[in-house]
Amino acid sequence: MPINYNADNKTFTLHTRNSTYQFQVDKLGFLLHLYYGPKSQGVMDWVLAFADRGFSGSPYDAGENRTYSLDYLPQEFPMQGTGDYRSPLLVVRNGAGTFGCDLRYKGYEIVDGKYSLEGLPAVYDDEKNSQTLKIYLEGQRFHVTLLYGVLPEIDIITRAAILENFSDEVITVEKFQTACLDFTHGKFDLITFHGRHMMERQFDRRELHHGSSIIVSRRGMSSHQYNPFMILADHEANETSGNCWAMQFVYSGGFKAEAELDQFNQTRWQIGMAEEKFSYSLKPGEKLIAPEVIMTFSDEGLQKLSHNLHTCIRKNICRGKYRDITRPVILNSWEAFYFKFDGKKILELAEQAKLLGVDMLVLDDGWFGKRDDDNSGLGDWTTNEKKLGCSLSELVEKVNSLGLKFGLWVEPEMINEDSNLYREHPDWALTVPGKSPVRCRQQLVLDFSRSEVREYLYNSLCKILDTCNIEYLKWDFNRSIADVYSRVEEDQGKVLYDYILGLYDFLEKLTANYPNVLIEGCAGGGGRFDAGMLYYTPQIWCSDNTDAIERLFIHYGTSFAYPMSTISAHVSACPNHQTGRSVSLKTRYVSALTGAFGYELNPAILSDDEKNEIREQIRDYKANSELINDGKYYRLSFDENLSAWEYLSLDGNSALVCAVIIANKGNMPTVYITPRGLLPGEFYREKYTGKVYASDALMNIGLPLNKPSGDYESYVFKFERVKN
Ligand code: GLA
Repeated sequence: MPINYNADNKTFTLHTRNSTYQFQVDKLGFLLHLYYGPKSQGVMDWVLAFADRGFSGSPYDAGENRTYSLDYLPQEFPMQGTGDYRSPLLVVRNGAGTFGCDLRYKGYEIVDGKYSLEGLPAVYDDEKNSQTLKIYLEGQRFHVTLLYGVLPEIDIITRAAILENFSDEVITVEKFQTACLDFTHGKFDLITFHGRHMMERQFDRRELHHGSSIIVSRRGMSSHQYNPFMILADHEANETSGNCWAMQFVYSGGFKAEAELDQFNQTRWQIGMAEEKFSYSLKPGEKLIAPEVIMTFSDEGLQKLSHNLHTCIRKNICRGKYRDITRPVILNSWEAFYFKFDGKKILELAEQAKLLGVDMLVLDDGWFGKRDDDNSGLGDWTTNEKKLGCSLSELVEKVNSLGLKFGLWVEPEMINEDSNLYREHPDWALTVPGKSPVRCRQQLVLDFSRSEVREYLYNSLCKILDTCNIEYLKWDFNRSIADVYSRVEEDQGKVLYDYILGLYDFLEKLTANYPNVLIEGCAGGGGRFDAGMLYYTPQIWCSDNTDAIERLFIHYGTSFAYPMSTISAHVSACPNHQTGRSVSLKTRYVSALTGAFGYELNPAILSDDEKNEIREQIRDYKANSELINDGKYYRLSFDENLSAWEYLSLDGNSALVCAVIIANKGNMPTVYITPRGLLPGEFYREKYTGKVYASDALMNIGLPLNKPSGDYESYVFKFERVKN
């Protein structure tokens, strides 16, 4: 069984195929973390080294034993007030305003299947393939249930926690993070993914020094600036070898993640909700859930770590009809026209799209209310028929009659002051009384913590979806939240969390009632690219930066946590609208080769040769789309000179290998790329050249790339195993 309890020494052991996680209930009822690493047997409480540590407090019931201090012992659920001065997961204030938690172990339960979380996204699996461990901790005013989910076959362990107030007074939760991993020793690097609008998820690896390394989003969204995902790796770990651990937060609001190398060279590593503007009061009987964290361990380097996460996200987070099928090839109107279009132009775009072999036309921003630029209209989800020259359903019918599906852009969480909705319900926007609101892109955020606000917006969307054959929605969110004040809430410290619950409630209803609509997440590009959103939207627009070269680096960073099937990427016009860079159509295609592929340009202004090339690209993409969507993704090489990656079919019989030489040099040494994961002792035929290669040589010596004729030369190889 994946979860075992050893009653003799009160030890819980969680086994996956390749890893083991263990903790113990000690004599005082605290949970001490013992181990998370390669698969191992037995009780590992010998890792605990008790000593009298100066200036480290001991719990009262440790009596005269000064060697017992939670200030240095590795813990499972550290809380404030126990004499542990490191960063806690839990801080609670009681009715009298005093702080201090003292939760002790009360009991446990092991059940088949993976737990779910009320109102929050969580990894799911059936009873045969997963187990849940519930640990009950009891205090004087509230108790906490720690939840562990184990998906042994894919090396995934999840955590979540539920706090319930059983006292007869109001308590306030000031911090409630989900998971921590305490390491008694070891030298680690922390890997995080930072960025900005148009340059999301840039890889950053640094050695831990004494003190804390923190990444945080105070924006009410997971953010462009830091992704709610981290890796801790042994110094020596690289793509293909070494120990590394990942923690991925399944939540789309603000977060904080921290790694501290402490006074005894121990490392505490934790992740959960942001503390800023969070102060959550619970009346007697009320409860609060700390959103889920996905954890995985690999002793085969970062590649295996990503493979574990990719499988989990693809099969156990993403849901619905589109989880397993390849997505339609899209032509999106945004970079073709921005706001400057009418119905005629959209139809012409659709006709062009059809001629190229595109599956779906997406009408982006500008089709509703008064919306000829980004200063007005958000909130008024009624078609601008004057602009379109017909109703939306008529336009959709016309596009459908060309043999194309129709998709639509919406931004339901936002409102412009210049909108009918704002004039009618100014109180529906999140603004602080007595303070001018912070505008961003001239818009304010709707109070999604309020059910009547959500209901109004939901009904507005239903009116569209019920009358038009819309098969895709791009759900956008184009600003961070600054003003946090809800007109109907007494406790403003609850608003940001309740906002996210409201968003999830909306999306749950929408996906349940419109199961055939593919929803693509978006937040000014990839500002809310997280596992929480992926539970509702199986793909996310990865960045507003469509520059083929910059996208290589954005996709690279994104690939550590997220499978390529979730990454939406489009071939755009040249020179690129964001950077002015000129890149060949071929390289733009290669760079956009992900599971959610499309175009973002106006084909009418392209030459016949370019149109023919696009037609060929779409044929080629469709021939490879299953491999790209479902295959294993390998990062072969990424630096400022070369970007190379591979998709390998799960049976190892086919591989698509892509490369872009970023910087060309005079008399340049030949560049070799080495595919991975091919079946040993086999031969593979390369489709475009017909050449046959021995798999072992290919994976060791590598494949020489032809000398590039200029910067940004790209290469694609398709290998098929030669069957005897
Ligand atoms: C965001 C999106 C873009 C586009 C615009 C429309 O920036 O990321 O792709 O949809 O909004 O306003």
